[in-house]
Amino acid sequence: MREFKVAILPGDGIGPEITKEAVKVLNAVSELFNVKFNFIEADIGGVAIDKYQEPLPEETRKVCLESDAVLLAAVGGPKWDSTKPGAKRPEDGLLELRKLLNTYANLRPVKVYEELIASSPLKPEVVSGTDLLIVRELTGGIYFGNKGREKDFAFDTNLYTVSEIERCVRLAFRLSKLRRRKVTLVDKANVLETSRLWREVFLDISKEFDDVETEILLVDNAAMQLIRRPSTFDVIVTENMFGDILSDEAATISGSIGLLASASIGESHPYLYEPIHGSAPDIAGKGLANPLAMILSSALMLRYSFNLFDAADAIENAVEKVIQNGYRTPDIATKADKAVVGTQEMSNLVIEFLYEDFKKN
Ligand code: IPM
Ligand code: MG
Repeated sequence: MREFKVAILPGDGIGPEITKEAVKVLNAVSELFNVKFNFIEADIGGVAIDKYQEPLPEETRKVCLESDAVLLAAVGGPKWDSTKPGAKRPEDGLLELRKLLNTYANLRPVKVYEELIASSPLKPEVVSGTDLLIVRELTGGIYFGNKGREKDFAFDTNLYTVSEIERCVRLAFRLSKLRRRKVTLVDKANVLETSRLWREVFLDISKEFDDVETEILLVDNAAMQLIRRPSTFDVIVTENMFGDILSDEAATISGSIGLLASASIGESHPYLYEPIHGSAPDIAGKGLANPLAMILSSALMLRYSFNLFDAADAIENAVEKVIQNGYRTPDIATKADKAVVGTQEMSNLVIEFLYEDFKKN
């Protein structure tokens, strides 16, 4: 039997409750697909600051580096919000972890479930058919450049090397070949030097992929086109901060950010998997959180880290079935929806459909 070591980082807010549900689903997978997962839990974010005065303690680093994949829920909350220079922030733990694992590309698929179109803030005819993938550069740019604060000024530096851009853009092109063969670069080349470098590297690499259609949009225009014509995008590749902003926008188009998963890919394992949504402290501990993004993140882990393609498909199909059958957590429920369920019920349903499908095949 194949065995995998999975680091589990529940983090803050709704993190622990959705993590529990994802682990339940993975245990069902292990029973059905004859694999074994060894879960090792560790602290990150606000809980880690409270316990160890560090958002990414040494022990957590060790657990992650020794694992085959890392599954993380969410970090942050009002308790740790501070604008004071030097204050320890839960988010720093996440950034340090991305850097530690060198997960340079964050893949954020946004697919619209036809049954959930009513939950999208956009018109059905605009969102219908949307199926895009944001490839966000994750370990460079303004997030990690030199920064500082003096009495009356502050600065952040945006810096990219050619090789950082190349590996990310090349991955975007490769991924587009498994999809609809179109890559859109988003930059701000009319203002930023870093963007002009991104554009040059993008145009160079595009020559290696002459069967892939290319498009280049300035980020302000891209923000507009995403809500005007979301279904025309296939792969979008962009720098760290633009990717952060546009992926929340794209996620909203799908009807619920509570459904979207992400995979952060590096040059070597372990990779990092996390939902796009945050720690939602306002609903934490109430059993209302949508566990689907976390469950779908674990499906991405099975696919990209363990090559368990059938198991990943099975989870994704089960989630689709649950939605097709009308079950909704409050974040994706409209007034017309009758079967509104909580966090645990939602994952139990996913597991039920998983078993049901397995019996049929
Ligand atoms: C995300 C989040 C993080 C980011 C925060 C929590 C640091 O918004 O994963 O998109 O900005 O990368
Ligand atoms: Mg974000």
